[in-house]
Amino acid sequence: MDKKRVAIIGVTGSVGQEFVQSLENHPWFEVTQIAASERSAGKKYLDAIRNPSGIVAWDVEGEIPEYIKEMTVKRIDELDVSQLDLVFSAVESEAARAIETQMAADLPVISTSSAYRYEDDVPILIPGVNDAQTELLETQKKNRNWKGFVAPLPNCTTTGLVITLKPLLEKYGAKKVMMTSMQAISGGGKSGVSAMGITDNILPYIPKEEGKVRKETRKILGTLKDGKIEDADIRVSCTCTRVPVIDGHTESVFVETEKEIDPLSAKDTYNEYNKTISVAGLPSAPQEYYAFHEDPTRPQPRMERSVGGGMTTTIGRVEKEELFDHGLKYMLFSHNKKMGSAKGAVLLAEMLYKKGKI
Ligand SMILES: NC(=O)c1ccc[n+]([C@@H]2O[C@H](COP(=O)([O-])OP(=O)(O)OC[C@H]3O[C@@H](n4cnc5c(N)ncnc54)[C@H](OP(=O)(O)O)[C@@H]3O)[C@@H](O)[C@H]2O)c1
Repeated sequence: MDKKRVAIIGVTGSVGQEFVQSLENHPWFEVTQIAASERSAGKKYLDAIRNPSGIVAWDVEGEIPEYIKEMTVKRIDELDVSQLDLVFSAVESEAARAIETQMAADLPVISTSSAYRYEDDVPILIPGVNDAQTELLETQKKNRNWKGFVAPLPNCTTTGLVITLKPLLEKYGAKKVMMTSMQAISGGGKSGVSAMGITDNILPYIPKEEGKVRKETRKILGTLKDGKIEDADIRVSCTCTRVPVIDGHTESVFVETEKEIDPLSAKDTYNEYNKTISVAGLPSAPQEYYAFHEDPTRPQPRMERSVGGGMTTTIGRVEKEELFDHGLKYMLFSHNKKMGSAKGAVLLAEMLYKKGKI
């Protein structure tokens, strides 16, 4: 089988580096071109990721894959789209809009940026959660007269919340959600927060994050009807904070449901979903989509981060919440750069490939 030829755009960034690792020896995709900003263009990858002091700044656990070290980083306008089948975009959101528009005219674009997330003909996709919304990509192609499309993932903080809410919404009718996040440093990108700012500290505000989580949760859990997504009837409130953890977001969630729910039925529900999850068996899918813990000392970022190769969402501290007639509180852990961005994007590409959309 010929592999699909892919480009990573924003390849030098935090998520871009994770793409490099997620695509190493991939059975279906081969990285043949890479691009970043003018700052990196023309350099060998290994030199492009050096920081101003000349130190190789590789933000991913493990070795830098050999295949990428000597590859030359291109400018966007140097990419040869005629030699590509697919683009992964990990560009900072402001620059992403023009770049993804240009790429989607010819190619499918799987994006981790927010540039297109809130457009009516653009689904925000989490493989395994709202696969049915991929049909909207056809409408998008027609509307825009593109050969390709833009398929964005959500913000990495939305990902864990929505993954854990989906079974609760379907089985128990989730009505209201309150969430407080404790987000990792790597979520801010390679120049997001300074060491002095985050060490021995908690930052109580992440610009624009809470609005994204509220909007995206309702859209992803919504229903595609007559070529449009009807938002889920669920009210979301959240407080997003940054904590001194390198990778992986932890979230404390309170959810009010229509039907009676208790921790045991929640556990059974997640176990049932594990058995029927649509992405099972895809190369980047975890063995278990959900990990449910009764041990009250879980989840902890250092223990959960590598579970399922960073693709498993962990749920723990599940208790009945007495504030509501029916409801639960729990904590979740989701890896922001694996399931929450690069590797989740590769999983999405695998799902779209299986559906014949790539
Ligand atoms: N970090 C996370 O956990 C996470 C999770 C989900 C989604 N996201 C989203 O994913 C995207 C990338 O995030 P990140 O954390 O990887 O950011 P980052 O570390 O700041 O990296 C940004 C990348 O974009 C490139 N870039 C910037 N301006 C460009 C331009 N005009 N043309 C081409 N390339 C350009 C940079 O290249 P240079 O190195 O050459 O400057 C770099 O490769 C963002 O939209 C972010 O919101 C991030």
